[in-house]
Order: sequence, then C-alpha cells, then structure tokens
Amino acid sequence: MPLLNTTEMFKKAYKEGYAIGAFNVNNMEMIQGIVSAAKEEKAPLILQVSSGARKYANPLYLRKLVEAAVEDSGLPIALHLDHGDSYELCKSAIEDGFTSVMIDASHHSFEENIKITSRVVKLAHDKGVTVEAELGRLAGIEDDVNVSDADACYTDPAQVEEFVARTGVDSLAIAIGTSHGAFKFKGDAKLRFDILEDIAKRVPNFPIVLHGASSVLPEYVTMIQENGGSMPGAKGVPEAMLRKAAQSAVCKINIDSDLRMAFTAAIRKHFTENPAHFDPRQYLAPARELIKECVKHKLVNVLGCNGKA
Ligand code: G3H
Ligand code: 13P
Ligand code: ZN
Repeated sequence: MPLLNTTEMFKKAYKEGYAIGAFNVNNMEMIQGIVSAAKEEKAPLILQVSSGARKYANPLYLRKLVEAAVEDSGLPIALHLDHGDSYELCKSAIEDGFTSVMIDASHHSFEENIKITSRVVKLAHDKGVTVEAELGRLAGIEDDVNVSDADACYTDPAQVEEFVARTGVDSLAIAIGTSHGAFKFKGDAKLRFDILEDIAKRVPNFPIVLHGASSVLPEYVTMIQENGGSMPGAKGVPEAMLRKAAQSAVCKINIDSDLRMAFTAAIRKHFTENPAHFDPRQYLAPARELIKECVKHKLVNVLGCNGKA
C-alpha cells in the first residue's frame, strides 16, 4: 500500500464517530513506537512533520522512514506537513512526497488566509494531496511562533462556511480552547464545545481538526520530576473531553507533547537506574517502548480508532 492522503480516512472517521491520531515524528524510534502500537491495534495513522522536524531530521530521511513503516505494517498511513506557514513550504513538502499538508495562515487576516490557503489547495489537489487550514488562533508555542494567551482567539463559526467554500480546503483546524505545549491551563481545563457544535452544524460532514490535544499524562510528569526533570504546572486536555471531541465532527487529533514527555520520561528513568550506560540503544529502546504504550492508550481510550484500519 502506498502512502495515502486523508480523504478516505476522514470520511470513515466522520461516519463512524472516531478520530485519527496525528502524531508528530522526529526520529526513527518515535516512528517505530507509534507504528508498532497502531499495528497491534489495527489503527489508521497520520504521521506529521513540523518545519522544525524537517530541519532537524531532513524530510528525505523522515519520508523514507515513514515509507518503511507503511511497508512493515501494511497500515493506511498519511504523511502530513504540520503547520506549514507558507505556500513555498507546502510546495516543498508536496515535492518531497508528503500526501497531506497544513497551510497555517491563521495569523493573517481572514481574506489573506483565504488567498494563501486557496493557492495551496490548487497546487495540492492537482497532485492528489489533501490540505488542512486553520481559522482562529491557538495559544502556545509552535516552532518560531509564540502566540500569547492575549493573541489567541476562538474560531468564529460565522466565518467557517465561507472559508471552506471559497478555499476548497479538505479539513479545518479550529481554536476552541486547546493550546500547544505541556502547560495548557492555569486553572480548570475548559473547551468551547458550543463553538465546535455550531461549526459542525454549519459545515455538515466536514472534518474538523483539533491541535494542542495532548493530555499531559500525570504519570509522565511524575516520572520526569522523580528523575531529575522539572515541569511544575504541566497540564493538558482531560481525556474525557478528547473522547467527546473524537465522537463529534473532529476527525484528526494532534498529539506531540505527550510523545515528547513519554520519550524523555523513559530516558530519564533509564539513566537514574543505569548511570553507567552509554550505548544509545540501551536508553532509546525503553523510550520507544513507552511511546508505543502511550500511543496504544490513545488509540483505544481516547481516539477510538482501534480496529478501523
Ligand atoms: O504544533 C507544534 C508541534 O508540537 C510541533 O512542534 O514545531 O517544535 O516540532 P515543533
Ligand atoms: P500538543 O502540544 O498538545 O501535543 O499539540 C500538538 C500539535 O497540535 C501539533 O500540531
Ligand atoms: Zn498544532
């Protein structure tokens, strides 16, 4: 099976009321951990690469690793550009063999967002590549962009129909209170499900994407802190809220921070217990294993996409 775009994945996810996990990848061990979890759970997957990951690992290496994952697992897998911030970056990802791209022009005006997104859609659709765009702005840190709480804003449902119709985009990331990173809420977690429901009514059968959807598992915070790390105040989106979102119009849920934390927690613990180790395989193997455990948990208990490949 070749790498797929997201069209059929989202159609089935919408109809059957689950979400596909979009996991950020930066290296071989992360890809292997995620894919072996999905293989055991027979789940479709989106493996996504940020521009930071492209700079870190070189897109060619990541694409070859993801192609190996497809060959090894036989699973439906899409290779997605996460937060492409320009037409040029999306074009380069398409040329690199990505099957799906996100054009994140949400920091521009509504009209400019439509203009840039439409241009990417035209290019991508000619090549069979699907496109995700964003309306509204999430707080938190993405690569070079640090959106403060004051600059973040919820998606305006009244703009969604026009945006989708004029751009021809395949899916839309919305802002309903999630944010990027491991420090999402100062007080109680709150998501604006009323905005999500309003949007779902205005664009029926249209796939919605949730970014900033790590749950920041307390067991990883503890493991990190008990082994020399420091993450005071780390807090994510409660899993019950994510499960509710996954059963709605939300067809793609983005998870990065939870994977980073699992990877780091396992390595920190390994070094506490084995201070004399210096062969990278000794500490990367447990990191890969904890990624697998984390992803299995997400597929079954949060996304509901197990058995859907
Ligand atoms: O949305 C941002 C993702 O967590 C990717 O993070 O840009 O540091 O690779 P990154
Ligand atoms: P988290 O930081 O919550 O994992 O969000 C990741 C994300 O949205 C990637 O685009
Ligand atoms: Zn994101």
